[in-house]
Amino acid sequence: MLPNEKIDQRPLLINAEPDNASAEFYRQQVAIHGSPLLIFNAQVLRNQFKALQSALPEVDLYYAVKAHPDPEIIHVIDQLGGGFDIASAGEMNLLLAHKISGRRTIHTHPIKKDQEIRDALRFGATTFVVDNLHELKKLVPYRSRVGVLLRVSFRSAAAMVDLSKKFGCAPEEVEQLVKDADDLGIHIKGLSFHVGSQCTDASKHVEAIEKCHQLMQEINATANKPLSILDIGGGFPADYELQGIDINAFCAPIRAALAQLPQDWHLIAEPGRYLIAPAVTSVTTVAGKSKRNGYHWYYLDDGIYGSYSGQLFDHAIYPLEVFRDGEHYPSIIAGPTCDSIDVVAENISMPELEIGDLLIGHQMGAYTAATKTRFNSIPDAKLIVIND
Ligand SMILES: Cc1ncc(COP(=O)(O)O)c(C=O)c1O
Repeated sequence: MLPNEKIDQRPLLINAEPDNASAEFYRQQVAIHGSPLLIFNAQVLRNQFKALQSALPEVDLYYAVKAHPDPEIIHVIDQLGGGFDIASAGEMNLLLAHKISGRRTIHTHPIKKDQEIRDALRFGATTFVVDNLHELKKLVPYRSRVGVLLRVSFRSAAAMVDLSKKFGCAPEEVEQLVKDADDLGIHIKGLSFHVGSQCTDASKHVEAIEKCHQLMQEINATANKPLSILDIGGGFPADYELQGIDINAFCAPIRAALAQLPQDWHLIAEPGRYLIAPAVTSVTTVAGKSKRNGYHWYYLDDGIYGSYSGQLFDHAIYPLEVFRDGEHYPSIIAGPTCDSIDVVAENISMPELEIGDLLIGHQMGAYTAATKTRFNSIPDAKLIVIND
């Protein structure tokens, strides 16, 4: 593969002082647990959860398990008293293993097999999301036991991952679907949306809240059973640029939009990325190096098929950190598999590394290990917990 001519300009932290405490900490962890690692800092997750809770005080938070379904992470959310957004039987089983009640979950996958609905009901989940008539019909046999949210699509070019491309009905379809549900004897309790993941523009949340407010009021003007739940989804951004996102300031317009809603409406959100991204750090080791076509190549023991899979599936670019100084060279950081796409950073300007050096990836909690593969039968990074 020829290197990309575009320069990789992600944040690169260089901390080469000999007594650097964080370098020492990572070396110690590798000496104890081996490499590669994912270090989950439970205190960071607690801080993120509390920060989002205080930025959106009227909103109940349901952690989107898909972002990082590790049992240790579920345990911390459980301790914090958070809810869980699940989208599959596998995610439900993870919670079952923790003896977490289905009552604390919402099932947000708009498309479900009948078996999935029955399993989720047996688990105790009662809130389900749909976005079309076929899915509404699937709920008819269980209508006395379910509360349904109708997912509305709001396309968002501002988001890194536009989740309204695949799911959600158009706002103009909402009224008819509520009527259809009524005819089927199903109670639509409210609306939900997702403005797209890593949505750095809070006005997208505001527009969606305002539109849902209008739709719900119009429907409630004539409905027998009013809509009274609004689920504002996820999308709250992680700090991949290391700019210091102030979540309270980011949420100020969202808070203002929510303050316009009737006070007795129940508000919920399904954050994943914002909560867990900064709480997990990747530690990899340079297993080999070479010089090819004028580039310094470094081969790590973790890569695109492992913890860095989010660079492919999620389009995230993670800030890196090295503990060497000196002249910078055009460099390529590759993963351990035999595949050419297994490249973490192409054409990045950095000091020369040596075999055995550590390379740190920051903000690596969301959609990273969640999408890893076992290609080449290379073992996963081991997740360890600190500050539990
Ligand atoms: C239905 C649903 N809810 C919540 C989330 C979590 O979103 P985020 O990680 O952007 O907060 C996702 C992400 O894919 C999703 O699909």
